[in-house]
Amino acid sequence: MTASPSSRSCLTVVLAAGEGTRMRSDTPKVLHRAAGRTLVAHALAAAEAAGSTGLAVVIGPDREDVADEVRRAAPAARIYVQTERRGTAHAVLAAREAIADGFDDLLIAYGDTPLVRPETLRRLRAPLGHGAAVVVLGFDAANPTGYGRLISDGPSLVAIREEKDASDEERAIKLSNGGLMAIDGRRAIELLDRIGNRNAKNEFYLTDVVEVAVLSGLAVAVEPAPEAEVQGVNDRAQLATVEAELQRRLRAAAMAGGVTMVAPETVFLSHDTTFGRDVVIEPNVVFGPGVTVADRAVIHAFSHLEGASVGEGVSIGPFARLRPGARMEAGSKAGNFVEVKNATIGEDAKLNHLTYVGDAEVGPRANLGAGTITCNYDGFAKHRTTIGADAFIGVNSALVAPVTVGEGAYVGTGSVVTEDVPSDALAIARARQVTLPGRGAKLKAMLKANKEG
Ligand code: UD1
Ligand code: MG
Repeated sequence: MTASPSSRSCLTVVLAAGEGTRMRSDTPKVLHRAAGRTLVAHALAAAEAAGSTGLAVVIGPDREDVADEVRRAAPAARIYVQTERRGTAHAVLAAREAIADGFDDLLIAYGDTPLVRPETLRRLRAPLGHGAAVVVLGFDAANPTGYGRLISDGPSLVAIREEKDASDEERAIKLSNGGLMAIDGRRAIELLDRIGNRNAKNEFYLTDVVEVAVLSGLAVAVEPAPEAEVQGVNDRAQLATVEAELQRRLRAAAMAGGVTMVAPETVFLSHDTTFGRDVVIEPNVVFGPGVTVADRAVIHAFSHLEGASVGEGVSIGPFARLRPGARMEAGSKAGNFVEVKNATIGEDAKLNHLTYVGDAEVGPRANLGAGTITCNYDGFAKHRTTIGADAFIGVNSALVAPVTVGEGAYVGTGSVVTEDVPSDALAIARARQVTLPGRGAKLKAMLKANKEG
């Protein structure tokens, strides 16, 4: 009987037990980030997008940090601990309980291999629906050193030989094991339990599932994939390679969706950045996680956005910073050297230059002059500032929160506003100017005499 992957149940087991010593890091390898998301979350997202109906993650002992991230990224995932590192097959069997639930397909993915595409995982599953018991992701390695080699007899795969166990002849083979594998879910436990550890590392190799299946007369298939997709992360240089590839894909997808990028190679996106149509992004812009940008917005050069929503036709920067909770409504503007945090800026409101707005609500069409600062923090707690529609705040004003400036109110330049300003009122909160005729000249004469002794 055949069935398309979409109608078959599928458990993906993600192996995430590796510490990644070559990262030289206090953070476990799979919690390092690329494109604003942890490596293990990338693997889980690909598994979900490939139609997994169950997820299991195998982590190392005492790795509450990895477990927390798995729970955050994929709350339905079941977490298992591999208490001793005894090989990849042993690691998969740490999830024995989940596998025993009896899925049609079992997919095995690595927590440190974030470039594999969901389509590739689907292709890997497909032969299981046509009678294969094991499917291996194969690739032509530019340099196969370190990879398991795919040993064929004519057209059929008969074994995978690890580098350390391979003969010279076998080492000359370029066709390598990408590591990802699909196994008939109903036979998986029986096959995995038959794997032994008589090899150079005394480990239970997942790769030996091929020989076990072939010995039982079961069909084994190889699914080819581009080498770039099986790129793992073992050190910081490989992390940078992975980041570059993810950025290349994200930029290409944004441009395909109708975004103009003047210099795409200088724009950095997150896995979840979303854009409307006809957005323009100038050079050197960084998008942290959680940013949405609506149609026709323009992000000028050297801006940094994170956890922010940018409405239709909004203009950001150059040199602007939107921090988490910044919400720029349609037609609003945050110009050069403006920072917005946890604040809603109403439609057509203008923060043209040199302004900090934090923990605030700014009404539609309000205009905040250069140097306007919301003083939101008293050293202990944060307080809110509310500015009504059509209000005008003169330059260099400090709004000491909690404080409200009413609709249509006008705050004079250089004010330190500590009390609420009612709608349509004029508030001037600065020392009155004193002008003394002739006294400037006298003062200068006195200072000159002092200097000359
Ligand atoms: C493995 C494959 C090799 C393939 C290569 C692709 C085996 C035996 N070999 O080799 O054929 O070409 O990946 O990158 O499978 N892990 C555990 N527990 C263990 C051992 C490993 O969780 O006891 C995890 C690792 O953290 C890693 C993954 O399994 O995420 C692969 O293990 P690794 O040691 O990197 O295997 P390779 O030698 O690279
Ligand atoms: Mg490896």
